[in-house]
Amino acid sequence: MKGKFITLEGIDGAGKSSHVEWLAGHLRDRGLTVHVTREPGGTDLGERLRELLLNQAMDLETETLLMFAARREHLAVLIEPALARGDWVVCDRFSDATYAYQGGGRGLERNKFLQLEQWVHGHLQPDLTLLFDLPLDVARERIAKAERVLDRFEQERVDFHERVRQAYLERAHAAPGRIRVIDAGKPFDNVRVELEKIAILL
Ligand code: TYD
Repeated sequence: MKGKFITLEGIDGAGKSSHVEWLAGHLRDRGLTVHVTREPGGTDLGERLRELLLNQAMDLETETLLMFAARREHLAVLIEPALARGDWVVCDRFSDATYAYQGGGRGLERNKFLQLEQWVHGHLQPDLTLLFDLPLDVARERIAKAERVLDRFEQERVDFHERVRQAYLERAHAAPGRIRVIDAGKPFDNVRVELEKIAILL
């Protein structure tokens, strides 16, 4: 039996990170072995690349290649072996984030994204992607409240994040069977109820 691969996506400030552990706990209660992980990151090398990616200015194509290099390592070391054992993997961001941030936000050519996606995981897509969608002003308000140093992406201007949001929605439109859009502009408890309904069907 192959395990399932679930990813969570959304613009910065969508609040998805707070739902990751809940979802994993819900699945564990059903007796499943669940790995919670994130991108960029998830492996020793990936976490080192994350440090660079979140803090160091770089050329767009360098940024994209490093995202996919971290992803290749993540797939080889953690995701693919876990799924092969029949474990489940819940991952905070995956390739849809590259499509949205480097593609939508920064304007990377779509064909370059598609080539890298095909190379790195042409054989594997998430079984389910939860896209936490919300208006920009609500997301920005949440980020403004965060008491920490903002990373390179969070510091981008509103129009960058608006393009990221639109690219996510476009991607969801193109893959309605895989990507479920969740209205994350609602109060936290309502979002959780929506998530519960989806989780029951998994
Ligand atoms: P994020 O997942 O939001 O972590 P935290 O919740 O700790 O802030 O941070 C990762 C950032 O990396 C986020 O701003 C989006 C960006 N990112 C990309 O630009 N491309 C990618 O392919 C991935 C996976 C992330």
